[in-house]
Amino acid sequence: MKKPKFQSPTGMHDILPEDQKYFKKIYDVVSSVADFYGFSKIDTPVLEDAEIFSRGTGEATDIIKKEMYILKTKGGDFLALRPEWTPSIIRAYIEHGMYNLPQPVKLWYFGPCFRYEHPQAGRYRQFWQFGFEVIGEKNPVIDAQIIQICYNILKELKIKNLIVEINSIGDNQCRPYYKKLLTNYLKSREVSLCSDCKRRIKENVLRVLDCKEEKCQIIKSEAPQILDYLCDECKAHFKEVLEFLDEIELPYNLNPYLVRGLDYYTKTVFEIFYLDSQSEKDIGNALGGGGRYDKLVKVLGGKDVPAAGAALGVERIVELMKKENIEVLEKEENFPVFLAQLGSLAKKKSLRILEDFRKSKIKIAESLGRDSLKAQLNKANKLNVKYCLIIGQKEALDNEVILRNMETGHQETIKIENVVEEVKKRLKK
Ligand code: HAM
Repeated sequence: MKKPKFQSPTGMHDILPEDQKYFKKIYDVVSSVADFYGFSKIDTPVLEDAEIFSRGTGEATDIIKKEMYILKTKGGDFLALRPEWTPSIIRAYIEHGMYNLPQPVKLWYFGPCFRYEHPQAGRYRQFWQFGFEVIGEKNPVIDAQIIQICYNILKELKIKNLIVEINSIGDNQCRPYYKKLLTNYLKSREVSLCSDCKRRIKENVLRVLDCKEEKCQIIKSEAPQILDYLCDECKAHFKEVLEFLDEIELPYNLNPYLVRGLDYYTKTVFEIFYLDSQSEKDIGNALGGGGRYDKLVKVLGGKDVPAAGAALGVERIVELMKKENIEVLEKEENFPVFLAQLGSLAKKKSLRILEDFRKSKIKIAESLGRDSLKAQLNKANKLNVKYCLIIGQKEALDNEVILRNMETGHQETIKIENVVEEVKKRLKK
């Protein structure tokens, strides 16, 4: 088949009516869990000052170096389509003086993000995220609770076989020393690294640890591990996070190579994967990820306020739900009444009748585009309505409508201005 002239942009897709039920289901589960845990919903503009991300997400990250959609406005500002939510949320926290609210401030969100990535399965240029941020609390129980919330949402969506990969990447006290050690180690084996990792040694050495190239994996398996070099504070924090997870029996895997692709993290980092039941291996991309980021508020010009959070990818969850045949029931549209019409005057009067029903909050189905009465009555039968209103040329002229009880076949004629009240009475019986 010839391709149509216009298609959605590469890596961006329509969410067709048949997929809306998955999005709605995920939204409903997320919002009820968020509500239970005391999170408030926030929306921020899709466009932000690009500097929020270059400073927040980090200059050396792939997101900033390669993946941001940036536009220059007519006024000369550089705005970016958000590649993630976290810096936008922190910008809003600072801008609206949320320090003055009782801390921590707990916020959740659900909406599209944009990254100019190489499109492939589970990786798009426009994708939806939902997430949670807890701002103003440094206690490790928050890190554990965020992991628990993400895990519970996926469980509630009936996704089984989940595993949380977790690590601590220390803080400004201990990480610089570890980075130096790692750099020295990697430099001594630089010739055997892939070209990307050779560059990463200089620009973002921790990222070498999550390179998927086989030769780099061999080298990193002998590299010094950050957990052995955490300062006392980071060590104690991480120990407590793991103890909380043990307490709630949440399955996790200590992964010393997990470093995440965003620069703002301190201490805890984690990702959630779906575990293939046959191979017992993580499959594909992470469903979600997050961690603690105690310095981001300050980096974006605010006070020294600790925070932690996580985000999950909606498309990846939908794809998994489909793959696992997780059924999502569409809410059945339940119409008690159908309006059938015949002739142009009847069509005109129908518009008013529909409006009267809408105002009275009685659901009424119709098929205004159709002219055949038979086809319309067939549709009314399929919808299993209790009553059918029929308005033909004669009824329209007399300002009347036929009210037919679909169960008994009994018909009566009533004035249009009384029809809503008459139907209401009968539906109440
Ligand atoms: P992230 O790991 O970059 O973290 O993204 C979170 C999730 O968004 C991923 O696990 C994945 O499910 C989804 N995702 C990311 N990129 C794509 C893509 N190109 N196509 C489809 N899905 C994608 C963050 O964004 C952080 N803001 C999370 C966070 C919140 N950390 C603290 N608070």
